Amino acid sequence: MTILAIETSCDDTCAAVLAENNEVLSSIVSSQVELHGIYGGVVPELASRRHCENIRWVVEQALNEAAITLEDIEAVCVTRGPGLVGSLLVGVAYAKSLAYARKIPLLGVNHVEGHLLSPLLSNPELDFPFIGLVVSGGHTSLYLARDWHDYELLGRTIDDAAGEAFDKVARMLDLGFPGGPVIEKRAQNGDPEAIKLPRAWLAKDSLDFSFSGLKTAVRTALAKSEGVPAVNAEVSAKSVSVSFISDLAASFQEAVTAVLLRKTLAAAARFKVKNVAFAGGVSCNGYLRRRMSDAAYAQDLNFFLAPPQFCTDNAAMIALVGRHRLAAGFSDDLTLNPSSRLPL
Ligand code: KG4
Ligand code: ZN
Repeated sequence: MTILAIETSCDDTCAAVLAENNEVLSSIVSSQVELHGIYGGVVPELASRRHCENIRWVVEQALNEAAITLEDIEAVCVTRGPGLVGSLLVGVAYAKSLAYARKIPLLGVNHVEGHLLSPLLSNPELDFPFIGLVVSGGHTSLYLARDWHDYELLGRTIDDAAGEAFDKVARMLDLGFPGGPVIEKRAQNGDPEAIKLPRAWLAKDSLDFSFSGLKTAVRTALAKSEGVPAVNAEVSAKSVSVSFISDLAASFQEAVTAVLLRKTLAAAARFKVKNVAFAGGVSCNGYLRRRMSDAAYAQDLNFFLAPPQFCTDNAAMIALVGRHRLAAGFSDDLTLNPSSRLPL
């Protein structure tokens, strides 16, 4: 079955075509970074308007790149949630129209399930059960994936998502948006041990995460270096030395990495699972990828990653999950609606 998938949960307009054998024939992502960058974060109303403008040509480009036409599509899958409701609505409405016009099956897919299983796109040998960490701008959740559609949530962030912390810290350091890639770049010239920052382990044996204290600690370190009170809302990185910013970026990245690593390894040990996978935008981070690869090797675990284009939001992961759900007998009708807080 050749599947067309659409993903518009946040600020990227995405469409992909997946062939019968799960080969990704095309995966188009139209980024809105330049639109939201000036605000330092995603503006929901602007995102949904831009999706409206983009969706048609993004789908057309996905079909063109896959060298097929709409007539060749046998099912349409679309992200149903969680996400920004105005953004989700554009993709869901478009997918419903296509399914209705072509009289083919329609299926709403959970965005987080897409991320969780995205490493399978490039690692078909990844077997269940596995410990999966979904670490993105909206989510930091650790799962035990027992099988397709059989997941146990082991822990999640109790405040900011890791990617959100990257974005907020980058804004504090005047580095731009999105924060992850710019912090990673600056951190290359910094010393990860230079500035002492907290790691929130939470209760003994907890697999939950917390990053808001770390964010506050970065603000305090920045304020101290400028000689202004930490509560000063005007604290900004403008007058701070370049090397201090690099050290702060590296120390922050190390603090996030240390927590993600230790909790993932603890989950693998607790559930005696040999396979571990990272997914979501933050898993693009080269430092995190290297550190986890080394740790997995040292502990005799198999570590799986998606290539960067499948870590960040994309529609190929939605098509992959959609195929399995359709095969399991699920489908939706035209009453399908987005759900901004859809649980997994
Ligand atoms: O998965 P994604 O594209 O969208 C969500 O579902 O949230 O993730 C976006 C997040 C942003 O917070 C961004 O700063 C972060 O992923 N990110 C990174 C890197 N690239 C993207 N974080 C750390 N290092 C990176 N290289
Ligand atoms: Zn996402």
